[in-house]
Amino acid sequence: MDKFRVTGNGPLSGEVPASGAKNAALPILCASLLVDDALILRNLPDLWDVGTTKRLLRQMGVQVAEIGRGSLAVNASGISTCVAPYELVKTMRASILVLGPLLAKRGAAQVSLPGGCAIGARPVNLHIKGLKAMGAKIALEGGFVKAEASRLKGARIVFETVTVTGTENLLMAAVLADGQTVLENAAREPEIVDLARCLTAMGAKIDGAGTSTIIVEGVRELHGVEHHIIPDRIETGTFLVAGAITRGHVRVTHTDPNLLDTVLVKLQQAGARVSTGSDWVDVDMTGRRPQAVNLHTLPHPGFPTDMQAQFMALDTIAEGVGTIRETIFENRFMHAQELFRLGAKIHIEGNTAVVTGVERLIGAPVMATDLRASAALVLAGLAADGETTIDRVYHIDRGYERIEDKLDALGAHIARVSDGEG
Ligand code: EPZ
Repeated sequence: MDKFRVTGNGPLSGEVPASGAKNAALPILCASLLVDDALILRNLPDLWDVGTTKRLLRQMGVQVAEIGRGSLAVNASGISTCVAPYELVKTMRASILVLGPLLAKRGAAQVSLPGGCAIGARPVNLHIKGLKAMGAKIALEGGFVKAEASRLKGARIVFETVTVTGTENLLMAAVLADGQTVLENAAREPEIVDLARCLTAMGAKIDGAGTSTIIVEGVRELHGVEHHIIPDRIETGTFLVAGAITRGHVRVTHTDPNLLDTVLVKLQQAGARVSTGSDWVDVDMTGRRPQAVNLHTLPHPGFPTDMQAQFMALDTIAEGVGTIRETIFENRFMHAQELFRLGAKIHIEGNTAVVTGVERLIGAPVMATDLRASAALVLAGLAADGETTIDRVYHIDRGYERIEDKLDALGAHIARVSDGEG
């Protein structure tokens, strides 16, 4: 298994481009199952999870052709099976996103139940409950969700918990359903707006994407389209924190500042000078020690849970005490155990972490436990004195495109070593 070797090397500085958003790419790739036509996708990030989704579609008989860097032509007209097997689903929970489109277009789907993961149980009960409300017959057998529906019927669905992929699955189910579907307490993430934008271009009739009430008028058929994936707001935020934690000056380009305004507010509270343009964000912490910030994760437009670990890393070296409340997932503080090893002072009680900033972290071997935790450990390693080795970096490859190359371009000392190299 690969590791990263990171050596603290002072302030990062320079420009780095954001890649396309992982959490927009995954549902939009699955939207290809809704048409017997080519879906042309641009600005796809080169990530492990995108590769897994391509493999998942290909093993169903979907044509997935590379047509340039970050560009795919996806055509499901020749689909041969509606099964998403365990060996793929167990590596990527988001595989559940084939369920809604397969049911809507093919009337059948067998999707292996995604297991939990390090950050929580991650149930899909709300996905299933919504599809049943639309008339699907669903059985859970042998670790599979087995679903069928002659034609889904529009329904009013109220999510008891805001769920991002639950909203995406039901949105994709609704666009071909008979009649009107209303999704109440829907998730409002920008990735859902991007999915809705793509579906609308394909001929779907959707109102309210980005608000908590989405109204869909089902149509009989959709058609192919060309769609450009939005920038990744979490990758953007991660690189901005890299600039702040090293007291440097980093600009992220090819992004959209409107996608992460609560993150920018927190960076300003930490003492960074934040400036923005139409497609870039600039964070300058030159010569200053960050101030500790308090944060409380919430569904969008609140502070994103996917940035919580990165800000905990920032708080570990900040001046003062920061309180972090994680309200989305039940076990998303695993990075704290590893940050302790670098000398961080963190007290955890339930879903609240109290971080008392220290002057310096000291490099040590640590282990990644999930995608965003691994990013937080890289950030801490960049700010620590000496060398930090981060094991199990396959977690980070799921959601960050060539992170070591991008950080290297900002002056970081980071190298990927395979296990043998010790
Ligand atoms: C999406 O996961 C993202 N993944 C996650 O990003 C992100 O952390 C999460 O949304 C929250 O923003 C993708 O978009 C591929 P949820 P998702 O359903 O949809 C509970 C990353 O780092 N829930 O919004 O799986 C659930 O347990 C990843 O890129 C149910 O109870 O998250 C959680 O407590 C990590 N029943 C809460 O809702 C359900 O049927 C929010 O989960 C579904 C969810």
